[in-house]
Amino acid sequence: MLPPESARIAQVIAAFSQRAMGAGFGLVITPMFEHLEVFQRVGASTDVVRKEMYVFEDRGGRSMALRPEGTAGVVRAYVQHRPTPPWKVFYVAPNFRYERPQKGRYRQHMQLGVEVLGVDDPAIDVEVISLAHDFFVSVGIPNAELRINSMGDPSTRPAYRAALQAYFRSCIENPSEALAELIESNPLRVLDTKDPALAAVVAHAPALADSLSSESAAHFASVRDGLDRLGIPYRLDPRLVRGFDYYTRTTFEFSSPSLDAAQDAIGGGGRYDGLAEEMGGPPTPGIGFGIGLERVMLASEPEATAPRLHAFIISALDDPWESSTLAATLRTAGIATDRAFGGRSVKAQWKLADRSGAEFAVMLGAQEQARGAVVVKHLATGEQREILTSELVAWILEHRKHTS
Ligand code: HAM
Repeated sequence: MLPPESARIAQVIAAFSQRAMGAGFGLVITPMFEHLEVFQRVGASTDVVRKEMYVFEDRGGRSMALRPEGTAGVVRAYVQHRPTPPWKVFYVAPNFRYERPQKGRYRQHMQLGVEVLGVDDPAIDVEVISLAHDFFVSVGIPNAELRINSMGDPSTRPAYRAALQAYFRSCIENPSEALAELIESNPLRVLDTKDPALAAVVAHAPALADSLSSESAAHFASVRDGLDRLGIPYRLDPRLVRGFDYYTRTTFEFSSPSLDAAQDAIGGGGRYDGLAEEMGGPPTPGIGFGIGLERVMLASEPEATAPRLHAFIISALDDPWESSTLAATLRTAGIATDRAFGGRSVKAQWKLADRSGAEFAVMLGAQEQARGAVVVKHLATGEQREILTSELVAWILEHRKHTS
């Protein structure tokens, strides 16, 4: 990802970080590789664990893996450091999955994510979902579609799993070897198959929502109430099964109609109320989401590229440090500034200024310097004027169009 396109990525990451910090989340940075067992916790029967992890032995003979997703490492850190709950954290981090690369699906992808540990209140489910929703709107994806479901709690899961297995065994004749294996190992995953031949079978499968415990049903009803109160549109999707074994109760996914169906998920998440305990910590509810940065870039409207530099300094002076001190002064005042290096001719410096996309060129010349002034040229219109050096900062701050 190279400049100038990468400037949009920086803006999107900044928009996410600001939004997360504005809601009381603190940055967490977990290692890019950890002991294999940490990531195996996301689910022995999931594709990510079985087929997609980058596993290697380190020089000490330990089994390590590159991080395939963000939640396991954050929960591991919680269990290890025991911060006082509620613990609200966010991350911007690369993940690695050995998938078949295609548009929107890469072997290294970035996730913008949040995790909250220690809060059972359905209001946090609503806060987490609304944070993702507001973020999508703010980066130019107002048409993101939100689907939600409840996976129930661990007490009701075995009975549902068995019912689903019985149903699939009875109505899928001659399943392929892979499908037969999936029905036995993880029948819930059959629900989100993309195989059109299975669409009718899946549509009539027993729904998880019908087998929720009364506590899970009440929690889910409250989450829906909260989303309604905040005016966040969503669709109930009883077939929404997310790809990891740790999910309990609320799960959700955002998709973009402007992406190919196989890679249209721009973010997803849910509760994982048993994961901290499974990792050796105290029973601690958890909820979070991960948003795929590359997919956000594909799905969002590319805005007109705004000039990001305010000023480009050109110098005809003999003293090479004049440009450096002026650049430092402007940057300290919050004016994005670049300059030429290497003693280039004034003509070559003007060319660089034009190419830089800066709003103004600031020209240092001997005659102007004698009058305590510089020449400022608006590069788009060609208009230029002399301005007292002592007034330059105030003048640019007043006249620049773009503040970021
Ligand atoms: P996930 O659904 O596997 O969830 O990934 C989250 C998002 O990352 C996806 O919706 C997608 O936008 C993006 N993504 C995933 N794989 C790829 C890929 N190969 N190439 C490009 N983008 C990709 C998780 O990882 C969970 N940890 C989310 C979570 C957090 N649940 C609770 N807390």
